[in-house]
Order: sequence, then structure tokens, then C-alpha cells
Amino acid sequence: MTKAPIAGNRTGRKLGQKVKKTKLKASSRRWLERHINDPYVQRAKLEGYRARAAFKLLEIDEKHNILKGARRIIDLGAAPGSWSQIAANVTGSTDADVRVAAIDFLEMAPLPGVKILQLDFLDPEAPAKLIEAVGGTPDLVISDMAAPTTGHQKTDHLRTMHLCEVAAHFAIEVLAEGGHFLAKTFQGGTERELLTLLKQNFRQVVHVKPSASRSESVEMFLLAKGFKGRKPATAEEAGD
Ligand SMILES: C[S@@+](CC[C@H](N)C(=O)[O-])C[C@H]1O[C@@H](n2cnc3c(N)ncnc32)[C@H](O)[C@@H]1O
Repeated sequence: MTKAPIAGNRTGRKLGQKVKKTKLKASSRRWLERHINDPYVQRAKLEGYRARAAFKLLEIDEKHNILKGARRIIDLGAAPGSWSQIAANVTGSTDADVRVAAIDFLEMAPLPGVKILQLDFLDPEAPAKLIEAVGGTPDLVISDMAAPTTGHQKTDHLRTMHLCEVAAHFAIEVLAEGGHFLAKTFQGGTERELLTLLKQNFRQVVHVKPSASRSESVEMFLLAKGFKGRKPATAEEAGD
């Protein structure tokens, strides 16, 4: 007796054909397992956030109250966009009255009320473009920028710390008086010089490790609250 032909299915496999196990590197498998079982990943899906990173910002805000009252926000290293989603929400930003500007060199799907710049923040044109995009003086600059990893830990740290420093200088140049600056940094990585600069320019400077930030990660956040304002550079600017 001839066997009935085995029907195919939508996956292109024949019925009864074994699925080949794709060989994942042990580190990739561990990452995937951790990602799937991560309660913040599940919560982000349920609550409509593009990334679990949303809960880092929300948790920092719960303790330090930085979002309330913000009228214009600049989001540095914004893709895929969960911080921008929160920023648009708190500022009531709309496409007709944009109050949030986001920058990332990666492509980011559009978000209502968010002007997205696909550009390297270290590009000399980035600061002016961000200010133009946000439409006025921002009272919050948030940065979750992390340099793409090279596999060499020390290099990665230095590059992310550099982004944090450039972001801090940018915040000092653009923030409204009383505004806040939040940026990703690494444990033990914040340079004394940067801390001194922030302490000179803000009323309060603290390091924060939200529980949504994985405990095994050296990631931390640097929060500078209450910008003291820029001193006029010349007597002319001071109105003398
Ligand atoms: C951890 S992710 C940000 C997640 C984001 N806060 C969210 O809630 O979806 C860090 C981002 O920083 C971006 N980034 C790193 N260096 C950058 C640079 N020099 N200019 C612009 N974006 C940068 C990366 O492309 C990446 O998308």
C-alpha cells in the first residue's frame, strides 16, 4: 500500500517533520529567557509602552517628582520611544503644538506630539536642531543614551560617560531655570569634574538606581534637579 502524501502547513514544514532547534549561543539564550520572563517587559506590553525602560523613568519620577509641570522635554537617545511616550503624555504635546523633541541615530516609529530627529547627538548641528524641534525653552532634558557596545567593557563605559557629559553641557546651555536633567551613567563612572559642574549649576545632584534597572547591570542614573539658571555672559546681556 502506498502511503498518503504528507500535507504541508503554513510554516512550509511537512506534518510530522521535526522542528530543527536553532542553536543559540548560551549568552543569547540566557538573554532571551530573561527577557521573556521579565515582569517589566510584560508590563510594558500590557500598558502600551515601547520598552521596559518606561518604568525606570516612572520610578525615578515617583521618588523625585521631575515630570510634573514639565512643559517642554528633550529626550536624548530616544528609540524605541517609551520615554518619549511618557514625555508627550505629561506635556500634553500634540502634532499641532509639539512640546517634545527626541533624537536617536536609530530609526524610531512616529509618535503623536513628538518631533523625532534621526541624528547622532554628537553631530554639531544636533543642539540647534533639538531646540528648534521642541519649539521653546525645555524644562526637562532626559538622556537614556548608551553607546553601542564594542565588547570591550572599558571602552563602552568611556563612550557612554562621554555621552553623559555632552548631554550635561547641553542641558546647562538650554534648560529653563528650575529645570531638571536626568542621564544614564555607570556605577562609579561619573567623573568628579562632571559632578562638580552639575553641583555648581543645580540645587541637588543624586545618583539613582531604579529597581526596573537590572541589578546585575552597572547602569545608574544621574539626576540634577533645580537648574540655577545661566548667568548673562556680558554686561550688555545683563541689560547694563
Ligand atoms: C537604552 S536605549 C533608549 C531607550 C529609550 N529611553 C526608551 O524608553 O525607549 C539607548 C538609545 O541611545 C541611542 N544612542 C546612543 N548613542 C547615541 C548618539 N550618539 N546619538 C543619538 N542616539 C544615541 C541608541 O541608538 C539607543 O536607541
